[in-house]
Amino acid sequence: MIQNKQFSVKDDVVVITGSSQGIGKTTAEQLAAGGAKVVVSSRSQEKIDAVAEGINDSDVSGEAIAVECDVRDRDAVEALMDATVEAFGRIDTLVNNAGASFMERFDEISENGWKTIVDINLHGTFHCAQAAGERMQEQDDGGRIINFASIAGTRGAPYMSHYGAAKAAVVNFTTTLSVEYAPHDIRVNCIAPGLVATPGVESQMGIAADDVDRDSVDRQIGTPEEMADIVQFLSSDASSYIVGETIVTKGVPDIDEGADV
Ligand SMILES: NC(=O)c1ccc[n+]([C@@H]2O[C@H](COP(=O)([O-])OP(=O)(O)OC[C@H]3O[C@@H](n4cnc5c(N)ncnc54)[C@H](OP(=O)(O)O)[C@@H]3O)[C@@H](O)[C@H]2O)c1
Repeated sequence: MIQNKQFSVKDDVVVITGSSQGIGKTTAEQLAAGGAKVVVSSRSQEKIDAVAEGINDSDVSGEAIAVECDVRDRDAVEALMDATVEAFGRIDTLVNNAGASFMERFDEISENGWKTIVDINLHGTFHCAQAAGERMQEQDDGGRIINFASIAGTRGAPYMSHYGAAKAAVVNFTTTLSVEYAPHDIRVNCIAPGLVATPGVESQMGIAADDVDRDSVDRQIGTPEEMADIVQFLSSDASSYIVGETIVTKGVPDIDEGADV
């Protein structure tokens, strides 16, 4: 009988940056439910402790540890990877999920504001990929790196020029790194979501994840669970022939209803 074992993340060691809430938190919980050993991480030890405790106190087959890390800080990133190897012996998958943005007209963005957003979204991705990649290359069987971009980085985003530019760089970086790391059996891919109902989006737009009907095709917003499903796919052997790609995941194409299709 076919058992779809290729979708398994059982016993995989997965580092998920920015997993105190939103997509990262849900991904940690879902992969742990699939039997993974997850490393929950963000700038807030208190928040990630709560996420890891929630996983460890539940009846899932996986487990979690919590390691504080600001992805802008290279020393902290190295310590995150060291703590992972110390706890679980290896790193199978890095999910470069930590990200942040704010909306502002381009003319009003300060140099500090621009650099902060590029630092978190691009340099944080660089730090984590290089630190995890070094450790994956020491393993016999490679690993996976999954970067988070955004459709803001694939088609632009008014009032988020800093964020769009950084995420566009993440898409390009994914392609290049996938070529350099392929000989080491490290698969690098990227996810570029459209709007997803996370706490950040809820506070800005008032749309809660519970309000999104996953069964409906006709929508412009996704759920953290749907993003976690794609992370699981890219983490697993089911995506073994996907390398250097960016999966754009969003709702119905934004074209005129009267368009000649
Ligand atoms: N939600 C969307 O509509 C959407 C759309 C496209 C792309 N994305 C991307 O998907 C990813 C997750 O988005 P989300 O909506 O789930 O985010 P979110 O709800 O805003 O959560 C962001 C996470 O990143 C962490 N974080 C922020 N700055 C950090 C730093 N310097 N170092 C380490 N962790 C940091 C936060 O934790 P702490 O505050 O505790 O540090 C939090 O856990 C991001 O890369 C985002 O750009 C989201």
